[in-house]
Amino acid sequence: MVLITGANGQLGTEFKKLFDKMGVLYISTSHKDLDITKPKEIKAFLNGKYVDIIINCAAYNAVDKAEDEVEECTLLNRDAPKHLAEAAKEIDAVYATYSTDFVFDGEKNVPYTEEDLPNPLSVYSRTKYEGEQKVLSLYGKVFIIRTSWMFGSGGNNFIKTVINWSKTRKRLSIVDDQISAPTYSKDLAEFTWELIQSREYGLYHLSNGGECSKYDQVHYVLQKIGWQGELIRVKTEDFNLPAKRAKYSKLSSGKAEKIIGKKLPDWKDAIDRFLEEMKCMGEL
Ligand SMILES: NC(=O)c1ccc[n+]([C@@H]2O[C@H](COP(=O)([O-])OP(=O)(O)OC[C@H]3O[C@@H](n4cnc5c(N)ncnc54)[C@H](OP(=O)(O)O)[C@@H]3O)[C@@H](O)[C@H]2O)c1
Repeated sequence: MVLITGANGQLGTEFKKLFDKMGVLYISTSHKDLDITKPKEIKAFLNGKYVDIIINCAAYNAVDKAEDEVEECTLLNRDAPKHLAEAAKEIDAVYATYSTDFVFDGEKNVPYTEEDLPNPLSVYSRTKYEGEQKVLSLYGKVFIIRTSWMFGSGGNNFIKTVINWSKTRKRLSIVDDQISAPTYSKDLAEFTWELIQSREYGLYHLSNGGECSKYDQVHYVLQKIGWQGELIRVKTEDFNLPAKRAKYSKLSSGKAEKIIGKKLPDWKDAIDRFLEEMKCMGEL
């Protein structure tokens, strides 16, 4: 039986759909059913249940707000993954949890591998990195999976926000100096599941293929949905955001792809499938 925490978020929703399709048994929990910042609650929840895989999709993801909400962010991104690792160890379960491309400082200009040294630039990314380290030092049967710019039909994300803006705005200004790769939660869930089956524990990067700037990503989405407005290139410094962001944070998924035996689809292909999904759901 799989336990999914943060099951109502983007990725959690995707795992529920995948497991329903595959007939995998799971227990899905929101923060109301199981607050992962409370170790005693986790232990009590697991007591008497046969859970052999824990997938943690819960996190504090408000990158800018985190600069002010350091404690909340630390509890969820640094401490909670550790509590879950301890609980997994106690019941000998496989444990998967997620991290971010933002652990890197963006000084490279070729995709980051798992061997590259992180240098987080913000509260959010520092707490995610500290969470990774705590989990890895505690337990062996773990998958730490870094991903980037996630989008999907469940929950909120940047692409959905852009689509909403396009309904009311005639001009949009988007930065062209942040480069990474959008990652479809559907692909991420499927590749994670395959990685879990491999039992090749460790640290992995999973993001859709290719790379692009935020501007390229938005340009692609807006031309696909036939927006007629004006898209303007701007720079990160124009927005004066609280959290610092890396200029380049594309992740190389090569290590995982070698184990799984297939490549993650290109980000444009992923966006095409996402827009189709949104159409089928009557949301586009
Ligand atoms: N989104 C991205 O662009 C991105 C990029 C890189 C890495 N990641 C990582 O990928 C993973 C999945 O991200 P996502 O976008 O799917 O996240 P998401 O949509 O923001 O969902 C996060 C979930 O965390 C749950 N949560 C919050 N506090 C909790 C608590 N105390 N106990 C239990 N659950 C709690 C929330 O549950 P409720 O609904 O019950 O409040 C929410 O559904 C995260 O580790 C994230 O950091 C995401």
